[in-house]
This record gives sequence, structure tokens and C-alpha cells, in this order.
Amino acid sequence: MRLPFSYFSLPIFFLLFSTFHAMSTNNLIPETCKKCVQKDPNLTYKFCVTSLQAARGSHRVDDLRELGKISIKLIKHNVTNTRHHIQKLLKNRRLDSFLKECLDDCFSLYSDSIPTLGQALKDYKTKNYENVNIDLSSMIDVSTTCEDGFNEKKGAISPLTKRNNDTFQLSAISLSIINMLS
Ligand SMILES: *[C@@H]1O[C@H](CO)[C@@H](O)[C@H](O)[C@H]1NC(C)=O
Ligand SMILES: *[C@@H]1O[C@H](CO)[C@@H](O)[C@H](O)[C@H]1NC(C)=O
Ligand SMILES: *[C@@H]1O[C@H](CO)[C@@H](O)[C@H](O)[C@H]1NC(C)=O
Repeated sequence: MRLPFSYFSLPIFFLLFSTFHAMSTNNLIPETCKKCVQKDPNLTYKFCVTSLQAARGSHRVDDLRELGKISIKLIKHNVTNTRHHIQKLLKNRRLDSFLKECLDDCFSLYSDSIPTLGQALKDYKTKNYENVNIDLSSMIDVSTTCEDGFNEKKGAISPLTKRNNDTFQLSAISLSIINMLS
């Protein structure tokens, strides 16, 4: 007696289908990062993949538009942490006056960037990519303006190099995704 065809093929079909599905979702981040890095030499592939994969909700995401939203939220979260960090550094009473001035500037730059990112998320929701682009470009300026402040005095060392670099790269990744969408 012959078994019905579907008895074997159905489970196999579902197995293949779910494997394929998992593969396609897993590839979105690496594929997107590959494109981002090609377009912007300031970005590193490894940074792009590790930060997007660590972002909340990203392991389930399977379309670029959703990933774009996650990437903007990631900047907002990161920048909020950096703002707290600067606030902590400013509590040190023995800070020399030049460093204090630089940190004060960075603190206001980072404070202002939080509502900017809130606006970017609103603009993203309404697909106003042109405004999202402006908002995110200003994040690039925040990171470079903050970092450049410390370089104005010879011998001064920025305590925020890594964090500014994170802000720069995360914003460049989002900008790159926005450009792919618009
Ligand atoms: C890379 O970074 C440099 C220095 O911040 C900047 O001048 C340049 O425009 C950036 N390149 C791109 C493609 O964003
Ligand atoms: C910011 O994001 C980068 C890249 O994901 C991560 O390495 C870093 O720890 C984050 N920093 C903060 C303060 O959240
Ligand atoms: C950020 O750090 C990476 C890795 O250390 C480096 O390759 C890159 O040039 C830095 N980018 C900026 C804008 O400083």
C-alpha cells in the first residue's frame, strides 16, 4: 500500500520553509551592513553587525523599514546613556577648567540631541525621510563637534572619544538605511 504523498512531504515542506525563513531573517542585518559599509567608508562592518544584532527587537526583524526604526531607537538609547555619563564626569570637582568647559558643551549637545531623535522617530513614522535625514545628520555633527572641542588644546585628551565614535557610527548606519528606503 502506498502512503499518501503528503504524509511525507508536508513535514518536509514545513521544515524547509522554516529553515529558509530563519535564514532570510538572519541575513537582513549582515546584508544591510554590507551595503552601508560600501557606501560609507567611515563605517566598520563588524561594528554595524554587532550593534544592530544587540539592539532590542532586532533578532525577529525581517524588513528594512522595521530595522530602520530599531536603528534610530538604538541611537536614542545610546545617546541617553552618554548624556548620563557626561553628567557623572561633570560631578568631579577637580576637573580642570578646559575639560569642564568642553564637557559642558558636550552635555548640552547631547541633551539637545534626545528631542531631535524623538522627532526623527516621528518623521520616520510618517515616512518623511528628508527630515529624518536632517535630524540624523545633526547627530553626526553632535559627535564631531563634541570631540573637536577637546582637540582645541594641545595635550588635552577627550574622555568621550569612544562614545562620540559610537554616536557617529550609529548615526551613519541609520542614515545609510534611510537612504536605501527613500
Ligand atoms: C567620513 O568622515 C569624515 C570625517 O568626519 C567626513 O569628512 C566624511 O564626509 C565622511 N564620509 C562619509 C562618506 O560620510
Ligand atoms: C553604544 O552602542 C555601541 C554599539 O552598539 C556599544 O558598543 C556601546 O556600549 C553603547 N554605549 C552605551 C553607553 O550604551
Ligand atoms: C571609530 O573607530 C573605528 C574603530 O576604532 C575607526 O576605524 C574609525 O576611524 C573611528 N571613526 C571616527 C569617526 O573616529
